[in-house]
Amino acid sequence: MAKNSVTVRVPAKVNLQLSVGPREADGYHNLVSVFQAISIFDDVTVTKSNPGSGVTISVTGEHTHGVPEDHSNLAVKAAQLVGQKFDFDVDVHIEIKKSIPVAGGMAGGSADAAGTLVAMDALFQLEMSREELHALGSQLGSDVPFMISGGTAIGQGHGDQLTAALSRGTYHWVLALSSVGLSTPAVYTECDRMRAELDIAPPQVSDQLMQSLLAADADAVGRALTNDLQNAACSLRPALSLVLEVGRDYGALGAIVSGSGPTVAFLVADEDSGLDLAVALTASGVVGSVARAHGPVHGAKVI
Ligand code: C5P
Repeated sequence: MAKNSVTVRVPAKVNLQLSVGPREADGYHNLVSVFQAISIFDDVTVTKSNPGSGVTISVTGEHTHGVPEDHSNLAVKAAQLVGQKFDFDVDVHIEIKKSIPVAGGMAGGSADAAGTLVAMDALFQLEMSREELHALGSQLGSDVPFMISGGTAIGQGHGDQLTAALSRGTYHWVLALSSVGLSTPAVYTECDRMRAELDIAPPQVSDQLMQSLLAADADAVGRALTNDLQNAACSLRPALSLVLEVGRDYGALGAIVSGSGPTVAFLVADEDSGLDLAVALTASGVVGSVARAHGPVHGAKVI
């Protein structure tokens, strides 16, 4: 029997490597982005509604401040894009239960778009291939294809051309969250400004990181974390430098701004060390709130 409603659970991500090439003519940058999907999830429910009602959206949960509840939401654009591809009028309601921080460098908006694509596919029995879903996803945003796949992957081009990365083991993270987000384009612009006098080489996948992931060596992964946007995020939000320092002082294996920030991700040895670090960061007073997560986890999945 045809379903009336589908719910998709979709994860957040951290970047284990984010290497940014020079700004290209289209305003974008060639990237090497090593993504890991982590266990903070949004649930996206898409329900058929009456003919002529169009696409409507509502957002609930702890982290909803700043999420548009109109057609500028990437999830609404995702539903409409599916309608364009398959040439039908889309009448659905999208409900997003948000746990992924908004504008936090953890791809929350891209995750919701990925969840909507997968939910639309199941709801209307479109049977899109992974390649078709990725192609639609990359029209919506550079991180969307990865949020469909999950796991661990290398993104090249704009970050949307994916190849699987071999990774063993489970990695434990403590995330220092900020109540006010950072704009991704603003962070890229600041990165360009700070590097204006430098000759920027094309980005390369880090062998050290790949070998450490293959060996399930969390210590070595911690040492190999790199993000070319980190200096720019810290320049726009100087408090982040202190957050990074405090986490390192408390024994994190690695500390990195996630994507364009302002979330700071700390890699720890195991769950107990994560709990200790979360308590220490909260007690330090330099961090507003913390979350704990592990990865890699699955991508957008019907539940
Ligand atoms: O692709 P997406 O819409 O998620 O990108 C958000 C912004 O991040 C872009 O408008 C651009 O400023 C910046 N960006 C970039 N180079 C990339 C990916 C994103 O400059 N490869």
